[in-house]
Amino acid sequence: MAAREGSSSAAGKIAVVASVAVNLAWLATYIHRRYFGGNYGRSDGGEIATVEPSKGKPPVTEHSVVNLDHGDPTLYVEFWRGTGDRATIVIPGWQTMSYFSDLVGFCWFVEPTFEREVRRLHRLVGNAVVDGYHLLVGTGSTQLFQAALYALSPAQDGSPMSVVSPAPYYSSYPSVTNFLNSALYRWDGDANFFGGDTCIELVCSPNNPDGAIRKPVIKSESRKTIHDFAYYWPQYTPITEAGDHDIMLFTVSKCTGHAGTRLGWALVKDVEVAQKMVKFMELNTIGVSKDSQLRAAKIIKVVCDGYELSPPSEANRLFHFGQRKMKERWSRLRATVAASDIFSLPNEISGYCNFVKENVTSNPPFAWLRCHKDGVEDFEGFLREHKILTRGGPKFGVDEKVVRVSMLDTDEAFNMFMNRVASLK
Ligand SMILES: Cc1ncc(COP(=O)(O)O)c(C=O)c1O
Repeated sequence: MAAREGSSSAAGKIAVVASVAVNLAWLATYIHRRYFGGNYGRSDGGEIATVEPSKGKPPVTEHSVVNLDHGDPTLYVEFWRGTGDRATIVIPGWQTMSYFSDLVGFCWFVEPTFEREVRRLHRLVGNAVVDGYHLLVGTGSTQLFQAALYALSPAQDGSPMSVVSPAPYYSSYPSVTNFLNSALYRWDGDANFFGGDTCIELVCSPNNPDGAIRKPVIKSESRKTIHDFAYYWPQYTPITEAGDHDIMLFTVSKCTGHAGTRLGWALVKDVEVAQKMVKFMELNTIGVSKDSQLRAAKIIKVVCDGYELSPPSEANRLFHFGQRKMKERWSRLRATVAASDIFSLPNEISGYCNFVKENVTSNPPFAWLRCHKDGVEDFEGFLREHKILTRGGPKFGVDEKVVRVSMLDTDEAFNMFMNRVASLK
């Protein structure tokens, strides 16, 4: 009897100890996940921690403001969630430590895998010629834009180079050009009203904000160009030709949706211009994050593999996913605008796309929405009163009765915008 009591109390103690141990293990796992993020198990028994990123903008609710001022490309989160771990990279603590990437290549801070995948992507899509071009990487194409201004300036007589673009132009062009008060270049406004010969013309095509397909408007021999091809991708516009201009800028922000990775690239024809751009990058930030380049290389590889090595389903094909989503949004917006008496949009553009091999309509990344309602002079302010944040015409060099609305945000934000806009009379 005593022996039975002894063994049952020992069993009870073991049960309590086991339960405490299980709870402690659970707590440790919880704390680790909560503060150090999820884990990826490894076959060698170790664990690889990923960090928990910030969440970005707050979610949209029925009463909150819908912020469609920025072209924040969160539409693409759905696609990348669907790729699971295919686009995940792991960078051990001892890697990517040196400043240098490629001491034998043209540009010492370009990661060779990034360059390889970017060239592969252009060959796949057919939107730019890559053979014979120098490839540079930047912290977003915004940094490369400044590097290009630096490389093309000043004018031959030493005076500041005029920088122009036809209105409506991307709202960052004037501010980024002028913010350091450079003696090398200065913003000179709407290219359609430029009186001189020597200038840098910014050719954004498809154009931010109105989606127009653009060619340079300045005809002079001494005009230089920077082609901003942030949106020259099949989800936004038919790919009609492979760009072969002097300087072409691209960005993962609008191609794959990875704006937070802050990576852009430039294709540059002339070696001296490319060398000056490299110089700018050295002085400005001593190169570009290798971690970001490796991540972007992996993302772009997954895009290319999705077309070249995988079954042709939308889950594998980024541009088809993007095109469908954008098309759905545009047809809803066009129907709502057609049913209203007070709004209008630019006409739809269509053309044969060499990439998808069929006729497609363009789906610009922004809606350039005009208001015809009597008494509304400041359309941006009018929409703000209805809890919709947009960017008004004056920031793009035009009048106040037009605004730019991002078409790249989450479904929740877009749906809320549609509900609110449909109710405006
Ligand atoms: C036309 C255009 N060019 C360049 C950029 C900047 O891109 P990044 O995020 O690579 O700096 C944007 C971003 O909205 C853009 O709309």
